[in-house]
Amino acid sequence: MTDKPRDSRETGERSSSSATAERSAQCIALGADHAGFALKETIRKHLEQAGYVIEDLGTWSEESVDYPDFGRAVGERVVARQSDVGIAVCGTGIGISIAANKVPGVRAAVAHDVMTARLAREHNDANVLALGGRVVTEAQAIEIVDTFLGTRFAGGRHQRRVNKIADIERDERASATRAKNAG
Ligand code: RB5
Repeated sequence: MTDKPRDSRETGERSSSSATAERSAQCIALGADHAGFALKETIRKHLEQAGYVIEDLGTWSEESVDYPDFGRAVGERVVARQSDVGIAVCGTGIGISIAANKVPGVRAAVAHDVMTARLAREHNDANVLALGGRVVTEAQAIEIVDTFLGTRFAGGRHQRRVNKIADIERDERASATRAKNAG
């Protein structure tokens, strides 16, 4: 992945909509492997039309690439707060979500329908949505994306559980540091 990310803030490809007027523009990091490329393009166009700022991290063709590179890139942008949220697409959504979830602070969720997209936000405060380009249709993907972006985290008891996920990351980091120092 040597290409520079394509940011619609630079290309001026953003267009306005009534939805834009109701919220400040969110920046979305978008990434896919070859199996997710076509769906990524559809999602990018849809979101640009809706007024989102898109950071397109590739891939940019159907030539075979490795999904971990793109899951990682999306996750890193979100954790660094260069993007508010990420969307990652591979053939099933599974591989790219596993890769994204290796970036500390990422909560990537594969959603195959509107219900799982809604619950990924309400219950899990997911910050990366993963989709399967070989699993969902374009129309289903658009519905899933719109639901994900339009749903807020419910907090409350769910916050406690999400905090426990962060605790796992913290404890694993501490134990890795201890093992390194002991060696
Ligand atoms: C690529 O053929 C495929 O394995 C990949 O897109 C993804 O589905 C992996 O989880």
